[in-house]
Amino acid sequence: MGYRVAVVGATGNVGREMLQILAERSFPADDVVALASARSAGKQTSFGENGLLKVHDLAKFDFKGIDIVLSSPGAKVSAEHSPRAAKAGAVVIDNTSYWRMDPDVPLVVPEVNAKAIAGYKARGIIANPNCSTIQMVTALKPIHEAATIKRVVVATYQSTSGAGKDAMDELLNQTKSFFVNQTLEPKKFTKSIAFNVIPHIDVFMDDGSTKEEWKMVVETKKILDPKIKLTATCVRVPVFIGHSEAVNIEFENPISADEAREVLRSAPGVIVIDKREPGGYVTPHECVGEDATYISRLREDPTVENGLQLWCVSDNLRKGAALNAVQIAECLINRKLIQAKKKAA
Ligand SMILES: NC(=O)c1ccc[n+]([C@@H]2O[C@H](COP(=O)([O-])OP(=O)(O)OC[C@H]3O[C@@H](n4cnc5c(N)ncnc54)[C@H](OP(=O)(O)O)[C@@H]3O)[C@@H](O)[C@H]2O)c1
Repeated sequence: MGYRVAVVGATGNVGREMLQILAERSFPADDVVALASARSAGKQTSFGENGLLKVHDLAKFDFKGIDIVLSSPGAKVSAEHSPRAAKAGAVVIDNTSYWRMDPDVPLVVPEVNAKAIAGYKARGIIANPNCSTIQMVTALKPIHEAATIKRVVVATYQSTSGAGKDAMDELLNQTKSFFVNQTLEPKKFTKSIAFNVIPHIDVFMDDGSTKEEWKMVVETKKILDPKIKLTATCVRVPVFIGHSEAVNIEFENPISADEAREVLRSAPGVIVIDKREPGGYVTPHECVGEDATYISRLREDPTVENGLQLWCVSDNLRKGAALNAVQIAECLINRKLIQAKKKAA
């Protein structure tokens, strides 16, 4: 007998990808329940190649008997419903920003800090990091072990799917309007996202950075190493799926580009595609539907002692969200940190 899994936010970008990945990886689930807002209750959402699930209203759902909740309904909704699910006995793996910095909630990327998962019992909640953080720390972990990272400077190029399904529609509709000489006013973004880039994701902080940039700083410290100094500029670009990052890294100890390439080639979750020729690198277009974090353009940075720079790309809906959450659930099972309730009975 397998697990009973509830997917909260099942009609959204991340939730739909979660259902797809559960089916793809033959997750040991006896039962999968799709939950969303009252607006979607009664509709159907697809599960795997041919399956369909009826969507239920989260507000009316009783989590009793559910083993694992994969949650992505937005921060406010998670703040209300994740503790309710945990109280009913489920382990909640949450994709929203709400729980990430709670000291009693582990923040996990399985390739980086899988051991932290064991700390979930305090609240019954495990947090999935921000999409930009996940792919970056997956790339940084092996080279941090090799030469100890001191400081990181990162610029992100984040796709519209990172802001939800309505944001993707805004890019599509603004692009179509442009070709018929019409202007579609921005709603999800502050300025036109079609044929533009916007250096602003999430709200502004007092120091002039944005909350998305702050998340990359504090989440990297929590997951990888509190001693790492990091500064980020997060930018939204007119891409549907796939986040890219230009990363400059300063190390305590010397490490050449060739050494780093070798270390990264044998690291979990990472694929190095780095030919120094036209097209010998990965762009977001090629990473859609893939599980890996791709590293390209790896080279030494001659402007600092022990410096490297690289280009890193990943599917933000998969490794940046849904896949990472499912991998956490798999770790819980493989490490015997959770038992199916039906089995235990
Ligand atoms: N997209 C990414 O790359 C990414 C990465 C990491 C984390 N996240 C986080 O994951 C969350 C969801 O992102 P998304 O891109 O999937 O957004 P989305 O496409 O806008 O989907 C939002 C989902 O939440 C549901 N929802 C909204 N209000 C609800 C309510 N009151 N009760 C129950 N369900 C409700 C929606 O249901 P309806 O369809 O019924 O409205 C929908 O299923 C956000 O917190 C986001 O920050 C996203």
